[in-house]
Amino acid sequence: MHSQPHHPLTPIDLIGGEDAVQRLVTRFYDLMDEDPDYFAIRKLHPATLAGSREKLYKFLVGWLGGPPLYEQEFGHPRLRARHLPYAIATQERDQWMTCMARAMREVNVEPALRTRLEESFFKTADWMRNTEG
Ligand code: HEM
Repeated sequence: MHSQPHHPLTPIDLIGGEDAVQRLVTRFYDLMDEDPDYFAIRKLHPATLAGSREKLYKFLVGWLGGPPLYEQEFGHPRLRARHLPYAIATQERDQWMTCMARAMREVNVEPALRTRLEESFFKTADWMRNTEG
């Protein structure tokens, strides 16, 4: 072990690896699917969430510092452009954030990391707004 080069811990290590990201994404979309509090964003998504689950999982693994699974398969994320077909106002941003914050709590992301990720998610979610609604 002492001969291993030192690598700083990235968020993907801190959260518990790719399996933990999978659990988070599963919980996030299960909540979105089940809880009417998130209906405004649920109804923007396809009837079947399998594709959404797979894409967000692959994106987040890379976004958290792991291998760039999304880019390898789908190319540059161009996240804002890819969200333009969906009307995203403050209400949609806030539902996405509430759903994600709850999912992180429920899969037991450690509190300090949760706070840090909530800030990062918020910046991205806020940047996705494309209408006054
Ligand atoms: C602000 C509120 C947001 C709303 C309402 C929203 C909604 C959506 C919808 C409706 C889709 C299409 C799903 C599909 O084609 O199956 C989508 C795709 C996606 N979203 Fe979001 N999203 C939001 C924020 C975010 C954030 C903050 C991230 C990343 C941290 C993100 C990452 C993605 C990714 C990676 C995709 C797949 C893009 C593709 O390849 O088509 N989204 N989102």
